[in-house]
Amino acid sequence: MDNLYREVILDHYKNPRNKGTLDPADYSYEDTNPLCGDEIRIDLRVADGRVSEVRFSGRGCAISQAAASILTEMVENQTLDDVKALTKDDLLEELGVPISPARMKCALLGLKALKAGIYGVPPHDEDL
Ligand code: FES
Repeated sequence: MDNLYREVILDHYKNPRNKGTLDPADYSYEDTNPLCGDEIRIDLRVADGRVSEVRFSGRGCAISQAAASILTEMVENQTLDDVKALTKDDLLEELGVPISPARMKCALLGLKALKAGIYGVPPHDEDL
């Protein structure tokens, strides 16, 4: 793994951005990785059709936590339509490290929670 990219992951893991919860939130969902039981919750507030605040919370491996932290930075100030259009490839590109199939659920846990919150139902992995 490239050092620079690995450092990005470690930095987000050690210094997570937007960690916490929002109460009340306009959208909130907690999802679990069935393979390990780790959980991530994503809370969103939306104002004028844009994400005005976003937080994540939960526990999990470095990849899951770093990916959720990076995801919150990606959706800040975005329109709800842009957030809906966000794909797993967008997130994986931002992560910048090759994610093995075994770790894919870790990397996508936050995105799944985010989409589930917005749509009200958890998406299938292949729809992310
Ligand atoms: Fe649980 Fe990665 S090992 S989310």
